[in-house]
Amino acid sequence: MCGIVGYTGPKEAYPVIIKGLKRLEYRGYDSTGVALLDGSLKVYKKKGRVAELEDALVGKDLHGHTGIGHTRWATHGEPSDVNAHPHQSSSGKLAMIHNGIIENYVQLKQDLINKGYRFKSETDTEVLLNFIEEIKNNNHCSLEEAVRVALKRVTGAYVILLLNTEEPDTIIAARKGSPLVIGIGKNEHFLGSDASPMLEYTKEVVYVNDYELAIVKPDELILKNLGNEKITPYVQKLDIELAAIEKGGYDHFMLKEIFEQPQTIFDCLRGRLDTIGETITMSGIQQYADQIMKANRIVMIACGTSWHAGLVAEYIFEELCRINVEVEYASEFRYRNPVIHPGDVIIAISQSGETADTLVAIENAKAQGAIILGVVNVVGSSIARTSHGGAYTHAGPEIGVASTKAFTAQLAVLTMIALKIAHNKGTIDQERYVHLLNELSEVPSKVATALKLKDQIRILAEKYKDARDFLYLGRGYNFPVALEGALKLKEISYIHAEGYPAAEMKHGPIALVDKDLPVVVVATKDAYHHKVVSNIQEIKARKGKVIAVISEGDSATAAMCDDVIMVPEADEIVAPMISVVPLQLLAYYIGVAKDYDVDKPRNLAKSVTVE
Ligand code: F6R
Repeated sequence: MCGIVGYTGPKEAYPVIIKGLKRLEYRGYDSTGVALLDGSLKVYKKKGRVAELEDALVGKDLHGHTGIGHTRWATHGEPSDVNAHPHQSSSGKLAMIHNGIIENYVQLKQDLINKGYRFKSETDTEVLLNFIEEIKNNNHCSLEEAVRVALKRVTGAYVILLLNTEEPDTIIAARKGSPLVIGIGKNEHFLGSDASPMLEYTKEVVYVNDYELAIVKPDELILKNLGNEKITPYVQKLDIELAAIEKGGYDHFMLKEIFEQPQTIFDCLRGRLDTIGETITMSGIQQYADQIMKANRIVMIACGTSWHAGLVAEYIFEELCRINVEVEYASEFRYRNPVIHPGDVIIAISQSGETADTLVAIENAKAQGAIILGVVNVVGSSIARTSHGGAYTHAGPEIGVASTKAFTAQLAVLTMIALKIAHNKGTIDQERYVHLLNELSEVPSKVATALKLKDQIRILAEKYKDARDFLYLGRGYNFPVALEGALKLKEISYIHAEGYPAAEMKHGPIALVDKDLPVVVVATKDAYHHKVVSNIQEIKARKGKVIAVISEGDSATAAMCDDVIMVPEADEIVAPMISVVPLQLLAYYIGVAKDYDVDKPRNLAKSVTVE
């Protein structure tokens, strides 16, 4: 949450920063601002999106070779011009941007007020900035030293970037809990919440770790820990291309990402799944295969869509590997004092690899001796680095705020892990194993077939876009798919939607069913199909409108429903990767029909780096 950008070098900083902010807008988009150093410090900020700031700055003095920029997702203080970042210190000499939350800011603020400080904004950021300035003035020390002292006294999460009029080509940066990437160019440096702002300038980056502080000048990058010891920066090569973060002719990133799924699932399977050799190669899993096989339980930890992927995986692991699986919301798990035994296997599932709750949950479990495996999309992210092993999902950058291709890639990875462990453990027979390898390899082409339904789904979206509520139902492997369909609709179209196990309907939600309630039933052919069909009948008997996702050729079920979406038949273990696609499209087209900004839905941000 919140995107941060910085630049120092020979270029004009403003265009680099504005372009970078547009790429990071998925992280928050309620207000935005820049600070530029050119002898003097110029700060421009306002409520609204980056493009609105850009329009407002036409004709202003935007000169400066060092600068920082911020796009905000509000935590402390409503979105407003005054709460937007950068903030300036009382003296006006320092400017700072911040991503995170300073938890003890109330106490710090009171101390500063007692010393005569006055605050313009309601933010925790302005408090931290003045706290730093107070230490600098009191101790007569450098800004770097003041930051170090201040950060030892704050609790919470942060990435901060600071400008100081006394050091006009320097950016001081520090992180704990929120991400920071530094790109190394020729006599220039770029800073960002992720690598997207620097892609066209450099492929060499350093991922800054927690409790590290960076002193960034055009020709020098010094990394230190909070004990003032120098750390050698570990330079990594980026393998993301610029095209991956552009819309490529699609109206929205979300649509592009939905349509990328045949390729992203293929990329995820490539080099791992070998249907001829009948093997699955995953080195980051292989190292821990013995521990996984012997584990008394596996705990999947995640949030949101990634949590739904964990639910599907629970069914798959229990079925194929005969290991007890629990699926936990990271935010609950981290505060619940859970019982963890050494040898428990935790699988953390995260697109961004930066979700604060998931990160802290696995840090806690790791400290208690659990083995942590990450199923993560963003290479080099905090969760990936905190995990002992795991597997990347290789879905490429996901920019639409609603997760789509990351979900199907997570399912592909988790299915491969389950198959590999089941095969090693002997809990799956060879025939079923080979059948499932083949089924998995056919998923990309079946998803491509499902995508051909887009025009039909667009018409359905027009038909149902004015509904006030939706119910989504599914059983077994399709129950988490129903949850995911409901979440997508809520996020993108702001229509209230609930997902339920189909049989649970009778225990309450059926009271909602009337002629105005669309009920989306995921009813592809599987072991429970006849049961779901009974649930469809129950809805029809109460005049509910049934939109069913069914397997191609299932004319008997089709005859009972108001509308049907037919997807290619697949084994129930891999079916969620296919049956979720029409639900993604339905949410997308309803959002578009209602004229909403589907890539940046209200109140949301892509990477939830605050708890
Ligand atoms: C929903 C969505 C969120 C994320 C959740 C976890 O479309 O995107 O629910 O799935 O915030 O994020 P990651 O996977 O980055 O940990």
